[in-house]
Amino acid sequence: METQDLEKLRKEALVEVAAASPETIEAIRVAYLGRKGSLTEILKSLGSLPPDDRRSLGNQANNVRRELEEALNHRVQVLEKESLEARLASEAIDISLPGRSVHLGSRHVLSQTIREIEDIFTGLGYGIVDTREIETEYYNFTALNTPEYHPARTLQGTYYVDAPPVDEKQGRMLLRTQTSPAQIRVMEQQKPPIFVIVPGKVYRPDVADATHSPMFHQVEGLAVGEGITFGDLKGTLEHFCHKMFGPERAVRLRPHFFPFTEPSTEVDVQCIRCGGSGCRICSHTGWLEIMGAGMIDPNVFAMVGYDPDKISGFAFGMGPDRIAMLKYDMSDIRMFFENDVRFLAQFS
Ligand code: PHE
Repeated sequence: METQDLEKLRKEALVEVAAASPETIEAIRVAYLGRKGSLTEILKSLGSLPPDDRRSLGNQANNVRRELEEALNHRVQVLEKESLEARLASEAIDISLPGRSVHLGSRHVLSQTIREIEDIFTGLGYGIVDTREIETEYYNFTALNTPEYHPARTLQGTYYVDAPPVDEKQGRMLLRTQTSPAQIRVMEQQKPPIFVIVPGKVYRPDVADATHSPMFHQVEGLAVGEGITFGDLKGTLEHFCHKMFGPERAVRLRPHFFPFTEPSTEVDVQCIRCGGSGCRICSHTGWLEIMGAGMIDPNVFAMVGYDPDKISGFAFGMGPDRIAMLKYDMSDIRMFFENDVRFLAQFS
């Protein structure tokens, strides 16, 4: 072992360490400083040298070992720093980029419309009542003064439910075709004065198209007490139309027929698009039909045990789906029920 050999080993080792990669550095350390590493072998062999050589070579070898250890430590630090910087660069977040917008859920446009209607009537002191969607023939038709032969009772007009009837008087079970059976249920359970609205789903065997859906919504209204007149009906519904469509809209009542009201009327509001001059929305009539209404027929009062000579009242039924379609200029009722977020998000 010569001084030159040590110096040669030192130079080679330092070059290798300086070029070491994270994958090779451990192998380089073992090759020189491991238990069987070349520098370790030199240090082990010093014992067999003459004392003078041993001291000077020993010093030199120890210096080389220290220098190598330092170089290795330094290289490890450099490599760690490099890998950290590479990671930081690759994982960098550009905080100046605009974020992805989060779509918050919102109430369905139909729920919004129904709530608007509810707010107007609760503002007049009306209560809100919920009744059932599965009804009986009695509540949906008979008690509403609808004769046995009425076409609405056929399979073309009503979805019958395959369930045993409660009793003979109740007749067949069905999905309510209107919210009007709620009139009977409320009058059976409460005493006049009664002022309620009943929002809910109704069902009719219609093939779905732009203006029909086998399920749609109605809001029923019922006002019953002593001395309630057609003038009250008119004033109430005019107030509603002005709140819902704007105070400038004219309201018109057209004679109509419903089995459970007499006299009956359909309520038109001046077209909310064209203001009455005629447009596509109002089929160039200037008017939009938005509900049916009338004074409760004495036969209906008799069905719930009210005295028609003492008690009077009015009822109305409107379609919030149709009202929302008119208000938002929609041409297809099916949009409400398809849950397409691109459509629904317009109303958030
Ligand atoms: N139930 C009627 C319909 O569905 C609407 C209506 C309700 C008419 C109350 C008068 C009174 O067409």
